[in-house]
Amino acid sequence: MSNRFDGKRELESIIIAAMTRNRLIGNGNKLPWQIEEEYHQFLAFIKGQTVILGRKSFEIFGPDLSAGNCLVVSRSLSARERVNVFPDLNAALMEARSLGRTIYCAGGALLYGSFLPFADKMYISYIKGDFTGDTFFPPYRHLDWEIEKMIDHEKYEFVVYRRRRGK
Ligand SMILES: NC(=O)c1ccc[n+]([C@@H]2O[C@H](COP(=O)([O-])OP(=O)(O)OC[C@H]3O[C@@H](n4cnc5c(N)ncnc54)[C@H](OP(=O)(O)O)[C@@H]3O)[C@@H](O)[C@H]2O)c1
Repeated sequence: MSNRFDGKRELESIIIAAMTRNRLIGNGNKLPWQIEEEYHQFLAFIKGQTVILGRKSFEIFGPDLSAGNCLVVSRSLSARERVNVFPDLNAALMEARSLGRTIYCAGGALLYGSFLPFADKMYISYIKGDFTGDTFFPPYRHLDWEIEKMIDHEKYEFVVYRRRRGK
């Protein structure tokens, strides 16, 4: 995690995403696949934790999430009941840090890109099979990350990446 928040207990900041091996994550503002096991895994990880979402992803996943745990980054969305809206990622991160829970960034592409420098870990589900779509996880320096864990599932492979020390 960035040193920007020196003096407070370090909390893990985790990118959580499902993608194909060529980094496809979305199609027409939806997921390109429907894989219940993977989606339930996502919901189980974020349960009770803090989730930061871009406005478009919030429109997709919001109904499945506990609004009280969601921090939405948007300049166009006005605050609504029990949903916290922030004009930029930095403001959302400040709030997330104050809540004292693990911080998950759940996309989409735009927000993943802004969040990458702050992430300690990435929980990536590599979806098996061929899919088409229009939205991709942003490019990142693979050398900055090492694999901590891999679990093979029938329809996806789950990989935990940890940022290499000193990166
Ligand atoms: N496979 C997965 O795990 C996964 C996860 C999430 C999403 N997705 C897919 O990704 C696609 C959506 O991604 P996306 O990149 O188009 O949209 P997004 O990142 O979800 O939302 C974009 C919007 O969020 C706000 N925003 C994001 N980053 C910001 C920043 N750093 N500062 C200020 N505002 C920021 C802006 O809202 P305003 O315009 O309101 O200012 C921006 O227009 C969909 O297809 C979705 O299905 C896939």
